[in-house]
Amino acid sequence: MSSLQETAALLAHSLRTRRDLLGPRRTGVSRESLERLGKTDLRSKNSPISNVKSEMPREARLAALREAVSTCRKCEHLAAFRTQTVFGAGNPHAELMFVGEAPGADEDKQGEPFVGRAGELLTKIINAMGLSRDDIYIANVLKCRPDMPPNASGNRPPTAEEMQRCLPYLREQIAIIQPRILVALGKTAMTGLTGTDEPMGAMRGRWFTFENIPLLATYHPSYLLRNGSNTEKRKVWEDMMLVMGKLGMPVSEKQRGFFLTSK
Ligand code: URA
Repeated sequence: MSSLQETAALLAHSLRTRRDLLGPRRTGVSRESLERLGKTDLRSKNSPISNVKSEMPREARLAALREAVSTCRKCEHLAAFRTQTVFGAGNPHAELMFVGEAPGADEDKQGEPFVGRAGELLTKIINAMGLSRDDIYIANVLKCRPDMPPNASGNRPPTAEEMQRCLPYLREQIAIIQPRILVALGKTAMTGLTGTDEPMGAMRGRWFTFENIPLLATYHPSYLLRNGSNTEKRKVWEDMMLVMGKLGMPVSEKQRGFFLTSK
């Protein structure tokens, strides 16, 4: 493909993504315009437009999706409240993807997931696995900070309806990144992803699937911040060792012993 064709393919893909996710009325792109864009030079012998999407680099596909998310107004109350959307961050080729529930105040300000206190703890957990945030991908089910009453501090969990409306974005994100393993952080994220409504104590440490990808549920880092006992930290660590085992990562003796000593 020439660079002009590539640009046109990117534009067509971006518009198609927006149209699929937001609907034709909100994007103002007619089927005819898309078809015309798809019919022009892009239909070269070796590159039918139907293959452009999968041929395109993950980075470009994520960029197009990020752009669609950034202007989403499906939840008017969230769009009016947010500073910006929080799309996700990390390696587009990651084998491991963490999924949280929704951005909080810190994430809303910075536009990055898990940058507050819970994020610092998540980073420590990732580092203890011998990985960095650049090796993995982090996203939330909801891409906007849940709105709060005027003058209220703190954050609220997203509702099931908000998560349902936003889920197509995460689904597309996962389809692009194709991680080998998903980890749901906390009950809200797990419910948003799967609809499962079991208590977290019963779900953690168990394998589920999302779109045929193994999905492990573990406690949210905020829970560990509230309940800092080594017993609960050890449970999360055991979950992470399950993940490491599934990814074929070696687990050292030192790693095996984390959080076992003091109560
Ligand atoms: N909690 C989440 O679930 N996601 C974030 O991005 C931050 C805190």
